Amino acid sequence: MHPLARWKLRAVKPYVPGKPIEEVARELGLKEPIEKLASNENALGPSPLAIEAVKKALGEMNLYPDDEAYYLKKKIAEKFGVDFDEVIVGNGSVEIVLMLGLGFVYPGESIVASQGSFIMYKIVANLIGADFVEPPLGEDWRIDLDALCSAIRPDTKLVFISNPNNPTGTALWRDEVEEFMNRIGDDVIVVWDEAYYEFVDKDRFPDTLKYVRQGKNVVVLRTFSKIYGLAGLRLGYGFAPKKIVEVLRRVRLPFNVNRIAQIAAIAALDDEEHLRRSRELVLKGKLYLMKELQRLNIPYAHSETNFIFVEFPFDAGYIYESLLKRGIITRPLAGYNFPRALRITVGTEEQNRKLIKALEEILGDREKIWNISKTSEVEGSPESL
Ligand SMILES: Cc1ncc(COP(=O)(O)O)c(C=O)c1O
Repeated sequence: MHPLARWKLRAVKPYVPGKPIEEVARELGLKEPIEKLASNENALGPSPLAIEAVKKALGEMNLYPDDEAYYLKKKIAEKFGVDFDEVIVGNGSVEIVLMLGLGFVYPGESIVASQGSFIMYKIVANLIGADFVEPPLGEDWRIDLDALCSAIRPDTKLVFISNPNNPTGTALWRDEVEEFMNRIGDDVIVVWDEAYYEFVDKDRFPDTLKYVRQGKNVVVLRTFSKIYGLAGLRLGYGFAPKKIVEVLRRVRLPFNVNRIAQIAAIAALDDEEHLRRSRELVLKGKLYLMKELQRLNIPYAHSETNFIFVEFPFDAGYIYESLLKRGIITRPLAGYNFPRALRITVGTEEQNRKLIKALEEILGDREKIWNISKTSEVEGSPESL
């Protein structure tokens, strides 16, 4: 590292995204279509209404965006029944995660989030020189709220909870969330990161916006990257009481949400048909994948999202590489401390079938997997498959 760099940055490992299609095509010289099941994007594509709106707006690229994102925030506020002043937008919801760190945490204070959760919480903590306290996940790859509660220290400013959790896909339900919130004092800010909100079973899911309306120290994050299919435009949003939003506005860079993204999102919010079709595709695809994973004896976490976390009884590196050679990109999770796991986005029917066929072929070569797992540093054997 450069000798003049802030030494605390030694702890920062750059975020590793899912491998882009272009990179895999280049590296492996693949000609056939490459399926990206690595970043939980919408397999149906963007909302057609958003595409139309963007086409009309392209000629205005020379103009700066509306810095306030007035019409977008107004639309979000109306749709979700909160005040205009309780909405914040960012260049992806990850930008709001960073804004929270910058706005509320001094170097040396602490941020709490579960192990095996979205890695950006740790990256932001390291970036600002905060201590990152990460209690272990609970059973069935679920976040352990008791452990989170116990991990809170007097100097803790932020608690991040990805619900449902990325990368395990598991959800926390209404009663347990309510109980947790009753135990939390108002000296910390609880951030509910609900990037996959639109996929969950609403009958059991907590209404975290209620805490925002009550003026509690709560932030709720959502995104246009997943079900809305606008990941490439980078647009996330959040809800918080005005006194929190007011702080975030001070750390926000000017024009942080670009013009095209604002226009696309306003149109996408109205596209109920696209939302319905996207949800249906994911629910149907998930049922198919879970059934097939059971048939192949591959353990998986129960998913409330548009992806499935699978954990092999041996290092998943070989499976990841073998899928890649067959033109299927999944997400290896060694960086999340799950060396035996892969995160697989639910794709179109065709993509899901291609994935299962490939897994079946790869796992069919037991001898090879045995040999690989014997030389791997990760404990485990393919016996149970
Ligand atoms: C839990 C969680 N939060 C935030 C994000 C980031 O979303 P955005 O694209 O809005 O930055 C993701 C994306 O993978 C996520 O899984």
